[in-house]
Amino acid sequence: MIIVTGGAGFIGANFVLDWLAQSDEALVNLDILSYAGNRETLASLDGDARHIFVQGDIGDKELVARLLAEHRPRAVVNFAAESHVDRSIHGPEAFIQTNIVGTFNLLEAVRSYWGGLEGEDKANFRFLHVSTDEVYGSLGKEDPAFTENNRYEPNSPYSASKAASDHLVRAYHHTYGLPVLTTNCSNNYGPYHFPEKLIPLVIHNALAGKELPIYGDGQQIRDWLYVKDHCSAIRRVLEAGVLGETYNVGGWNEKANLDVVYTLCAILDELNPRADAQSYKTQITFVKDRPGHDKRYAIDASKLERELGWKPAETFETGIRKTVQWYLANAAWVENVTSGNYRNWVAKQYA
Ligand code: NAD
Ligand code: DAU
Repeated sequence: MIIVTGGAGFIGANFVLDWLAQSDEALVNLDILSYAGNRETLASLDGDARHIFVQGDIGDKELVARLLAEHRPRAVVNFAAESHVDRSIHGPEAFIQTNIVGTFNLLEAVRSYWGGLEGEDKANFRFLHVSTDEVYGSLGKEDPAFTENNRYEPNSPYSASKAASDHLVRAYHHTYGLPVLTTNCSNNYGPYHFPEKLIPLVIHNALAGKELPIYGDGQQIRDWLYVKDHCSAIRRVLEAGVLGETYNVGGWNEKANLDVVYTLCAILDELNPRADAQSYKTQITFVKDRPGHDKRYAIDASKLERELGWKPAETFETGIRKTVQWYLANAAWVENVTSGNYRNWVAKQYA
């Protein structure tokens, strides 16, 4: 069995659902259920003995030690994090606590457990840390895409906290020999994406007749990957990654934010036309830019393809259409996650 942390969030839940759809290997899902964690996403697993959900903090060393001793996993996959850049600008402390201190405590508990393993159990154990391309900073228009050798130059409290956690993971390998793997992925999109992030926010606001907020001039570039492709990359790295190595994950899909929003509007115009027959584009509104906004991210994922044979299954065109269709078919999920706390966040961020 394996332990997954943060498996009630966007990527973690997609990973859990895909894992159990493809294998009978059980997993413990440790998630604190912050505003971003949602049990409803995992409702299809109710009563499934292969999914053991535990509400708790990765920073709770005693709890993690107990789970490790009881379930004796062959791997820990760490998704748990505070993940939204704008929230890290309003309040960085939670990012320091979970992403740095939490990862440190998790590593300590795992190091102690791994130290007590023997033979094949010890040799086969893996700690996979899920990280982001944002640790590399921001690219100029003509710069080559980030490789695993790029310098770390994080610019936001979020990316700085992720960079710190990556460094701790690296240090636990070099100092203690802990069998770690790290993945650095570009922007994900797909089902169960919390509507504080650009793509689900735009779909949600469009359908609600609200403004589609574009920060600054909308010419910032992100490199988009369908979430299920990120999950398949993590499975592949867990299976065959070289210990201590880092792997960039991306889909070679660089897009300016404004173009992403135009694409979403065009798909919505086709699948769910507005009653007044106007385009959803008319709802686009330019708003104040994000402080310290990174201009461009682009991931060179050729190491993962060359060494482990991984490639994404979706193009941006196929993935974004599936995503819009998913949101149209799952209005109840969106409705449930956009209550109380979410409204407070929107009021503060877009005031
Ligand atoms: P998310 O915010 O949707 O989910 C995070 C989950 O972690 C939530 O379920 C939350 O309840 C849980 N969590 C938070 N603090 C915790 C704690 N102290 N203990 C246990 N659980 C805790 O995030 P996401 O978008 O699914 O991102 C998952 C991971 O992937 C993060 O580490 C993030 O940095 C990384 N990542 C995200 C993207 C992206 O585009 N979303 C891209 C690359 C890497
Ligand atoms: O690159 C990987 C990262 O991608 C992950 O590590 C983060 O966890 C994830 O949140 C994401 O970070 P971004 O800041 O790139 O994602 P976000 O969806 O918040 O914003 C995408 C772009 O859209 C960014 O340039 C800011 C812009 N934006 C965002 C929002 C929410 C807008 O223009 N308007 C908005 O309302």
